[in-house]
Amino acid sequence: MSRVLIIGGSGRTGRLIADEAKRLGHDVTITARDPRRVTDEGTVPQGIGLVHADVHDPASVLAAVKNTDAVIVAVSSSARGSGSVYSDAARAVIGAVAPGTRVIVVSSGGVARDDKGLPLWWFRRILTPLFMNDLYTDMKVMEDMFRASELDWTIVRASYLKDGPGGGEIRISDGSNPRGGWKLSRHDLAAFVAAQLNTEEWSRRLPTLAQ
Ligand SMILES: NC(=O)c1ccc[n+]([C@@H]2O[C@H](COP(=O)([O-])OP(=O)(O)OC[C@H]3O[C@@H](n4cnc5c(N)ncnc54)[C@H](OP(=O)(O)O)[C@@H]3O)[C@@H](O)[C@H]2O)c1
Repeated sequence: MSRVLIIGGSGRTGRLIADEAKRLGHDVTITARDPRRVTDEGTVPQGIGLVHADVHDPASVLAAVKNTDAVIVAVSSSARGSGSVYSDAARAVIGAVAPGTRVIVVSSGGVARDDKGLPLWWFRRILTPLFMNDLYTDMKVMEDMFRASELDWTIVRASYLKDGPGGGEIRISDGSNPRGGWKLSRHDLAAFVAAQLNTEEWSRRLPTLAQ
């Protein structure tokens, strides 16, 4: 059993990762910028810890990771531009944990913008340049920082996330989008991310998931 901190564990995918990691027997704590809001919502499952952390405040991340064995990063920004949430998350985590620490990071298949495996020409040629340039640029900085670190990282690149049931067939490629795949259930992503706590199979690699 590991003590696991999920930064972004209050989010839609983060909560599912927390459930799954707990089911696998880990001691799980999630973060939120405003833990009281999350407590008031009553959505933190029994037996899962909740602490404050804001990736723009490295001291809060340092305090949150204390006494943890592994960290999962699943932060996201609601804004079109990421406002440096991804790169700040990388900077804060790399500065807070010891070399060799297991860190599993959720990223996006869209980071590899020229990947021919990405479907939908309009996604590559119109949506990304118009609306998601800053977000993917910041995500790429995050990826590069983790890849250059001495951490035991796995960067899980996800396709467009959908709510609803999982259990569909998932395709996984190393560092490129499974050809034509454009969606992924948050449940399936969460199950894959949590499973990485128990295996080194994808250590220092970039599993890229799509249905
Ligand atoms: N949406 C997609 O289609 C898609 C596609 C590919 C990859 N992804 C990736 O999949 C992951 C999960 O996405 P999601 O849509 O499930 O997320 P989400 O529901 O939007 O949750 C976002 C999480 O990020 C946290 N967060 C935001 N700003 C933060 C900050 N400054 N410091 C600390 N935490 C912060 C939020 O916590 P609080 O607000 O509680 O503080 C929340 O837990 C993300 O890494 C995202 O980039 C998403």
